[in-house]
Amino acid sequence: MEASSTRKFDVGGVMLDRPFRISRLGHFGYYSNHMRESLRFYTDLLGFQISDPLDFGHRLPPEHKGKVDSVGYFTRFNGDHHAFVLFPRRAFEVMANLPPEHAINQMTWQVGSLKQVVDAGSWMQQREIVIDRSGRDMPGSNWHTYMRDPEGSRNELYYGMEQIGWIGRSKPKPMHNRRFTEAATLPQIPEFKEVDDAVAAGVDVLSGVRHEEKMPLDYQVSGTSLGRPFKITNIGPIRLMAENVDKVAAFYRDTLGFDVTEEVTWKGHRCLFLRCNTDHHCVSIYPLSIRNDLELPHKTTCFSFGIKVYDYQQLKDSVAFLKKHGVRILHYPPELFPGMDYTAFAADPDGNLIQIYYYMEQIGWDGKPKPENLRRKIDNNAWPETVQALSDSFNGEPYLGPWG
Ligand SMILES: [Fe+2]
Repeated sequence: MEASSTRKFDVGGVMLDRPFRISRLGHFGYYSNHMRESLRFYTDLLGFQISDPLDFGHRLPPEHKGKVDSVGYFTRFNGDHHAFVLFPRRAFEVMANLPPEHAINQMTWQVGSLKQVVDAGSWMQQREIVIDRSGRDMPGSNWHTYMRDPEGSRNELYYGMEQIGWIGRSKPKPMHNRRFTEAATLPQIPEFKEVDDAVAAGVDVLSGVRHEEKMPLDYQVSGTSLGRPFKITNIGPIRLMAENVDKVAAFYRDTLGFDVTEEVTWKGHRCLFLRCNTDHHCVSIYPLSIRNDLELPHKTTCFSFGIKVYDYQQLKDSVAFLKKHGVRILHYPPELFPGMDYTAFAADPDGNLIQIYYYMEQIGWDGKPKPENLRRKIDNNAWPETVQALSDSFNGEPYLGPWG
């Protein structure tokens, strides 16, 4: 443990309890045993676009080479190179002894600078937190430090995600030359200089991967023709289930620096909701015992991963669209999702849950959530045609750029 919990760190002239500050969920990953069907679910149906595939085949033990699905996919919904990754489960079982209850490949949080990524790694090592790896991964170009929570779920802090612009292409492979397998020495050259260097070296910088939209543009979504009647405009929250809720929550609070927004007890199950910015929560922690009470479709330690659509109409339309395409839609007691209004869950081909929502209560300077009696009463058996605005409807992080 740190010698003194009162030690402060100068982070850009602001004194903080730790040498970094997480501002948002950047990306998240699920494993799949049904890669072809899952890829269709996440891309064609949900609308994530492939930014790069990555073949882990060279890391497979010889007896498994060519026999195990080894290609993973990086996908995006905005300019970030990836917001959701889908990796082949069996390959990670044989490469990395992936435990059967682990559904999550990574939960990845954005910090403000490269220095914060590097300093976070050193600070955590001093606190005897095992750092899985540090450096900079390709594809995606983000500088990172990986660590696990007390029950083994893998977190990553990152800075500098590659941005994909109007042309829709990721960086080509020759530009993956500045991959780092250990913590970076500082300073590093900016990405703009890396691009200059690639151009000078004769690299065709516009030859990267571009997603292929397979769905006909049959839906008019508030003025834009899209392949589905909704647009993902944000990701998260992540719902974890833990053997020891307090121990796991302490990691997200004391190590990652999240604030506890609210605690809910439902049928004797104590559930904690934590935030890293103004969203009511970005991660929630439930006792593992809730899994049987809720009859969740998949026996893992992850309850769900969230995708936000732009508005209530899109939420309703997404549910109808996914049902039409044979996706199983589920509802759970709304008391388990404070601050979220109407939501629905879609099961992916492995049974992993995706929570679809359109609203997230915003927490202000005083850190207090809205009192329970001021929240809308949710009846999942009777969704209304429209909803009355709340004081913070449409507030929070806005989506930048066109929807498609
Ligand atoms: Fe990552």
